[in-house]
Amino acid sequence: MLDQKTIEIIKSTVPVLEQHGETITTRFYQLMFGNHPELLNIFNHANQKQGRQQKALAGTVYAAAMYIDNLEAILPVVTQIAHKHRSLGIKPEHYPIVGKHLLLAIKDVLGDAATDEIINAWAEAYNVIADAFISVEAEMYEEAENQAGGWDGFRSFMVDRKVVESDVITSFYLKPEDQKGIAGFIPGQYISIKLEIEGEEFTHIRQYSLSDAPGKDYYRISVKREAGTANPDGRVSNYLHNDVNEGDILKISAPAGDFVLDTEKTTPVVLLSGGVGLTPMMSMLKTVVKMQQGRKVTFVHAAANSNVHALRDEVEELAALDHVNSFIFYDAPTEEDRLNNRFDVEGYITRDWLKSNISIEDADFYFCGPVPFMKAINRSLKDLGVFEERIHFEFFGPKGDLEE
Ligand SMILES: Cc1cc2nc3c(=O)[nH]c(=O)nc-3n(C[C@H](O)[C@H](O)[C@H](O)COP(=O)(O)OP(=O)(O)OC[C@H]3O[C@@H](n4cnc5c(N)ncnc54)[C@H](O)[C@@H]3O)c2cc1C
Ligand code: HEM
Repeated sequence: MLDQKTIEIIKSTVPVLEQHGETITTRFYQLMFGNHPELLNIFNHANQKQGRQQKALAGTVYAAAMYIDNLEAILPVVTQIAHKHRSLGIKPEHYPIVGKHLLLAIKDVLGDAATDEIINAWAEAYNVIADAFISVEAEMYEEAENQAGGWDGFRSFMVDRKVVESDVITSFYLKPEDQKGIAGFIPGQYISIKLEIEGEEFTHIRQYSLSDAPGKDYYRISVKREAGTANPDGRVSNYLHNDVNEGDILKISAPAGDFVLDTEKTTPVVLLSGGVGLTPMMSMLKTVVKMQQGRKVTFVHAAANSNVHALRDEVEELAALDHVNSFIFYDAPTEEDRLNNRFDVEGYITRDWLKSNISIEDADFYFCGPVPFMKAINRSLKDLGVFEERIHFEFFGPKGDLEE
């Protein structure tokens, strides 16, 4: 346990570090990848370029430091990150590397203001925070490996089927190469894929939500091809679309994540998705229908138009049931979409629409999609008075702030 003086130093210097936030974290990654280029096998290079991960890691260290004498209070945050770390294969031996380079970066940026006393206090605090992560992750590693059908690290799966779902989304049905059982999962969870692309220096790891119900002898993921913008095309999604075919092997880690459907509850559930954000919702929808017959579920999906709208038939089939409702929003419908009544509402999902069409009082809301979509939904739900504990969401990237 840290002494009172150390705790005081930590708490009083957090604002200073936050002030230099981006400079310190940029320096931190430069120094760390300079000394440990092997870590580029684990970190997402695109997130680095866009600065999303920079903010996430150091920001969390500072936030944790504010609770250094009561880390229990931030256990949910630690748990969410620990799921991601376990899925990526982050191990205890990685922590001192991050700690060392974070301190070096703080020293570098603060210069003389970083006295020995301050640096020593941060070294102690980092160790306490790291230990909290390491112990939560140790339990997760054990559970992932020891559960029925579980495994440690990355296991080889064969692409059993590759199915085009829309102009931009393709599903991959993955079965274990060893033909043994596979671990169950909770709808909403994801797997990580580790790609070794021939001729490339580093491996790439990406997460994909499981888009079918649990209890099958395969995992299904549905991947959007990230291309056609001013930025470079997405590395992994394009490789999966263009170069991975039936019979090929992919390395994946066991299902992880804390964005999960609460099947203990029987109150209505509303699943809202934008674009490829529908993948965890599909798994949730199918699970409610299969396991919670009678539980009211509303599936609201927003896409540009039918060209990019995936898994439509699967939802339609389930929506024929009494307790299932489905609404389709297109913001750029084609002429054909109009002629064939392929959507319910033109435009975006708004607060007023939610107010008029969804019974807000006792429902739980789950949503996922592009960040602007998520911000708009979050704001609408808050405006309508939905309590925080009934709002659940997943970011398809490092967790951000929906209130910004
Ligand atoms: C929990 C979770 C679940 C997910 N589930 C799904 C899912 O079910 N389906 C799905 O399709 N995706 C899902 N994702 C997203 C997925 O993990 C990948 O992020 C996505 O496929 C893009 O990866 P990529 O390698 O193709 O793109 P990357 O190469 O990682 O690039 C990502 C983005 O950054 C841009 N970019 C690349 N380089 C630069 C640069 N130098 N400067 C500026 N911009 C740049 C690219 O244009 C692209 O838009 C999920 C993510 C998470 C965290
Ligand atoms: C106490 C120390 C650490 C903290 C507070 C921390 C925090 C975070 C946070 C907040 C995220 C984003 C999670 C999300 O929103 O999904 C993250 C992801 C990640 N962390 Fe950590 N982390 C720590 C240690 C480490 C270590 C030791 C490593 C390995 C060297 C590591 C590697 C990663 C990677 C690879 C990702 C995903 C990043 C990406 O793909 O862009 N982290 N971490």
